[in-house]
Amino acid sequence: MVRFERAIVVGASSGIGAEIVRQLAARGCKVAAVARRLDRLQALAAEFPGLVVAFQHDVTRCNEAPAVFQEATKQLGGLDLVVYAAGVMPAVGPDEFDFEKDRQMVEANFLGAVAWLNQAAIRFQNTRQGTIVGVGSVAGDRGRRGQPVYNATKAALATYLEALRNRLSRYGVKVVTVKPGPTQTEMTASLGLKAVPTAEATARRILAKAGRTGERYLSPVHWVVFTILRNVPSPIFRRLKL
Ligand SMILES: NC(=O)c1ccc[n+]([C@@H]2O[C@H](COP(=O)([O-])OP(=O)(O)OC[C@H]3O[C@@H](n4cnc5c(N)ncnc54)[C@H](OP(=O)(O)O)[C@@H]3O)[C@@H](O)[C@H]2O)c1
Repeated sequence: MVRFERAIVVGASSGIGAEIVRQLAARGCKVAAVARRLDRLQALAAEFPGLVVAFQHDVTRCNEAPAVFQEATKQLGGLDLVVYAAGVMPAVGPDEFDFEKDRQMVEANFLGAVAWLNQAAIRFQNTRQGTIVGVGSVAGDRGRRGQPVYNATKAALATYLEALRNRLSRYGVKVVTVKPGPTQTEMTASLGLKAVPTAEATARRILAKAGRTGERYLSPVHWVVFTILRNVPSPIFRRLKL
């Protein structure tokens, strides 16, 4: 794993984001941990005194992102990694179309990412170094029946990150899209998933991919399965009822 010294992790209060904070701090990286649940962030900071700083922030308040970004960067004394892991996936029924749920997902999973990662892009473009990691999902590869808007937010995130990568590579900035598969976290707790990786394992795989710019699945099996699925023609994909 590449060694990072100063990082911001957005969506750090639980699950994959919290584990990314732990694994970075365990290697001596100073981390600004950002999310809404301050008690969770403070408990995380207490595990790594002097290394992890808590920043309470709601990513749907996009206009507040620049000030939090600047303050976090100042307190860290610099920046070489930004991870955007914030996300929501409310339960959606098979025949349900609930705009409020859809809005929550668009705001937290995509608009918040743009607000934060634009800040990272501006800074890293100027400092001519840095790594941006966006936590996408295999769910963004196709429009499935179960979660139309969750899928769409992850697809939008992947396309936005591809464009950032194409803009920023000439400044030596790495932009990494990671696409985890199902993972045991609070987000998936009600789904009763079994035999899927823990947040700790997914975080480890994400950080292992953070050294190389590009779009990454977290296992060779996922690469094979989702490369095939991405190329299945739409009428056939529909019949698969995925
Ligand atoms: N679990 C999976 O199977 C899976 C698979 C692929 C990708 N992912 C992606 O991995 C990322 C992390 O999810 P997770 O599975 O670790 O779930 P999680 O434990 O529910 O974590 C979600 C994180 O996002 C933060 N967040 C949500 N809304 C926010 C808001 N408005 N403002 C600030 N922070 C917000 C939460 O913090 P607060 O609630 O404290 O604000 C929490 O820290 C998400 O982007 C998810 O889409 C998950």
